[in-house]
Amino acid sequence: MAREMGYLRDSVSIMSRYSRCKRKWSGHLRKSRKTIEDAIGQAPANGKVIIFGAGLGYDLPLRQLTSHFSQVVLVDLVHTLPIKAKTLFSKKVELAVRDVTESLTNISEGRDEIYEPKGFLEDKQVGLVISLNLLSQLASLPVSFLEKHYGISENQADLISKRIIQAHLRYLQKFDANVCLVTDIERQVKGSDGKQIAKFSALHDVQIPWNGNTWLWEIAPLGEEDAQYSVTNKVLGISNITNASWIGVNG
Ligand SMILES: C[S@@+](CC[C@H](N)C(=O)[O-])C[C@H]1O[C@@H](n2cnc3c(N)ncnc32)[C@H](O)[C@@H]1O
Repeated sequence: MAREMGYLRDSVSIMSRYSRCKRKWSGHLRKSRKTIEDAIGQAPANGKVIIFGAGLGYDLPLRQLTSHFSQVVLVDLVHTLPIKAKTLFSKKVELAVRDVTESLTNISEGRDEIYEPKGFLEDKQVGLVISLNLLSQLASLPVSFLEKHYGISENQADLISKRIIQAHLRYLQKFDANVCLVTDIERQVKGSDGKQIAKFSALHDVQIPWNGNTWLWEIAPLGEEDAQYSVTNKVLGISNITNASWIGVNG
């Protein structure tokens, strides 16, 4: 199912884009890792840490995670060679193949019912949960799949995307453990002269209800997606949502 929806292809394309854009991505990856390091500092030692969207692990401070926690669970739909190689000799690391939305089976059968995820909520060992550069990605492939195979409209696609994103935010708030969130929140498109052409929400206008640090990530420098424009993401990093100031859903 994950392969049919394009998750493996996506992972391979992140890998090749990373090799081309390493220098431009380095600030974003460093700030993502720093947000996680701050989260580790606030979490009880020796428990379990769950990382949603671990992917290739470019933004993961693995050494700090394995020295603070007794179990490090890397959750993704696909675990490709780079992360397998990085974690090969670490007995503390588990590569868990899971759908964080718990709704993909439904979607693959053409139903748009979005469930409230429950995974790990009852696990008392969990001391930290990290949602890592995942939130804006959660809906894109499922919605493309529904558009391609079930002909859903643009409006339906937008609504389903919102529901998936909101369900993940509610899910994070249900954990008893500390929760760290790193996500892009806005896309900025710039012309070849560097001037902004367009700006839009990366989260289908769903608001993140907490304040945090923000930074820019030039995800697609000029020439990467198109010779005429570049794409920059605005990213939000919150090391612990419980301690973050609440700005509300319309804030
Ligand atoms: C932009 S990448 C995150 C960056 C990643 N930490 C890295 O360094 O490669 C998003 C990741 O989320 C994963 N993902 C997307 N939807 C998912 C889902 N429903 N369940 C689990 N993982 C998912 C993708 O497979 C991908 O690896």
